[in-house]
Amino acid sequence: MIEQWIFEKLKEDIGTERYEHSIRVMKVCEELAKHYHYPVEKAKLAGLLHDCGKLQGQINLLKMASDFGIILDNITKINKELIHSPLGAEIARSKYNIEDDEILKAIRYHTTGRENMSLLEKIVYIADLIEPARNFEGVDKIRALAHQNLDKALLFAIDNTLAFLIEKGNIIHLDTIKARNHIVISKYME
Ligand SMILES: [Fe+2]
Ligand SMILES: [Fe+2]
Repeated sequence: MIEQWIFEKLKEDIGTERYEHSIRVMKVCEELAKHYHYPVEKAKLAGLLHDCGKLQGQINLLKMASDFGIILDNITKINKELIHSPLGAEIARSKYNIEDDEILKAIRYHTTGRENMSLLEKIVYIADLIEPARNFEGVDKIRALAHQNLDKALLFAIDNTLAFLIEKGNIIHLDTIKARNHIVISKYME
């Protein structure tokens, strides 16, 4: 059972809208954890806290990251959307007393993905994209794939994200490329 103070603190830290998104992600994490036989409470906690780095208000995330001693790569510095993930992992550890490294990594990599993702990392990454309020082109295909084959869902989701980033002329984080290559290579190894 997740302790009540965690819900309360999260709501205060990230605001009602993101809090409600987090609750929906937590519920999808629960579903996927049951489906793929992953410890449900751990998955729920990771889902609940995945965006705990999205602090509301005028907060300088770059400064906060540096105060935590986080060394950000150049791509993360440019694409500020990415900062809340590594920052969130540190906040989860220091402010929410999360010691479980699998949970911290699932928070750390929920935006970019990374090479050789753990089952929990995949669950959180996908749950964040397919929670019921998400509505983008391709989301229904990811939802369907998520219950059939998590790697296929992940590959489709990453391809979808990459296409979107390219179309927008946006920068692509190398961890996302590495995540994709890893899945494609494992498919060849099957
Ligand atoms: Fe996020
Ligand atoms: Fe999210």
